[in-house]
Amino acid sequence: MSEQTTFPRWIPLLGGLLGSTTCGLLLYAFSKLIKPLMAEFGWAQTEVAFAYAIICFVFGLMTFPGGKLSDKIGPRNVVFFGGLVLALGFFLVSTLSPPDKAILAAGGEAAIAAKEAAKTQLYLFYLYYGVLAGFGGAFVYLPPIAVASKWWPDKKAMATGFTVVGLGIGSFIMVPIADKIIAANNGSALPVFYYVGIAMAVLVVLAALCMKNPPAGYKPAGWNPPVPAAGGPKAFRDYTYEEAKKTPQFWLLWLVYFCGSFAGLMVIGLLAKFGGDAGNTNPGLAVQCLAVANAAVRILIGPIVDKLGGTKKVFIILFSLQAIAMVALYPSGSSTLLLSVTAALIGWNYGAMFTLFPATTLNYFGITSQGSNYGLLFTAWGVAGLFGPTCGSKLQEITKSFMTPFIASAVILAIAVIILATLKAPEKKHA
Ligand code: 2OP
Repeated sequence: MSEQTTFPRWIPLLGGLLGSTTCGLLLYAFSKLIKPLMAEFGWAQTEVAFAYAIICFVFGLMTFPGGKLSDKIGPRNVVFFGGLVLALGFFLVSTLSPPDKAILAAGGEAAIAAKEAAKTQLYLFYLYYGVLAGFGGAFVYLPPIAVASKWWPDKKAMATGFTVVGLGIGSFIMVPIADKIIAANNGSALPVFYYVGIAMAVLVVLAALCMKNPPAGYKPAGWNPPVPAAGGPKAFRDYTYEEAKKTPQFWLLWLVYFCGSFAGLMVIGLLAKFGGDAGNTNPGLAVQCLAVANAAVRILIGPIVDKLGGTKKVFIILFSLQAIAMVALYPSGSSTLLLSVTAALIGWNYGAMFTLFPATTLNYFGITSQGSNYGLLFTAWGVAGLFGPTCGSKLQEITKSFMTPFIASAVILAIAVIILATLKAPEKKHA
């Protein structure tokens, strides 16, 4: 019996689920760790938050070599290597040494030296969390996205959704895990990095074991590729990576991805603070609603896209809804119900992008170079992550109103809708 009939094709999806859950543990619950780290090390909020800008940037940029390597040498080694670097970087944060509170309180030379030492620890934090874990995370995140649709050419978007749903799951479970560990350790966040770092190593090794490209020419049993229309060319071929990145469509998609991520990240980072300042009694509920919707949509939107065969209509609807949600956010602030519903809508539209963009790249350029193509496209998220959250809080600080970043997001999203409306799939390449 050939390999293609014996290897269950849900296994690479499971690998993607495990890998993306690890990335979720890494990325989206970071805001929970900010306060305990500030208290333990005496770092300022902006200093801790800068680590998040670094990790988004490194993660977003390194998906490109991660995807390229996966196309070249296969996904298993890339995920294995990246996963261990991710887990090591995260774990190493637990080895940082906080300054002695008694020495700080006593003042004098010793306190100045302790403060200096805490600065060195901050740079090490940037290195371990931002650079190492971010780099490793990219190598875990991208390959499963490139591989899943090779096993599921009949349900490409659904398969892609499975490989990114863990970002939502991981961030959702990380919040109570971090809370529990911090509470059990006198408010210290360092044990979170210790225990979760070890768990990450196990998860990524399992994820890597699940990863594998299908044999050349693989087709799922009972499925045949769509037949080219009568009278047209006999066959088409996929774009090479070099060809794909030369198309205007690729860079228009990049711009739309940047706008969607920038607007989303700018507002998501402010949500809890906004709810609290607006007098909302339970802003945490809105954050949880956003997280659940951000996870659920990744799975639910896939089958819809597979049925429609294209992404443009869905994109336009979701980006328009996102612009409306941003405008609705400010007046919703004080009502728990309204804020939760609006936050869920924002999470839904934001999370959908991580299924829709890989699905669009596939539709436009084919599967052969999906790792390289989507890896390069995803750098848009990295650049947005570097500037989005910082711009959000700066706009709010300068204008002393949350309305400004929310309206700015709506405008950016409206620009993206206009670009999307003009977007046409590139001509197919004749074989
Ligand atoms: C995602 O949420 C990592 O931002 C990326 O899938």
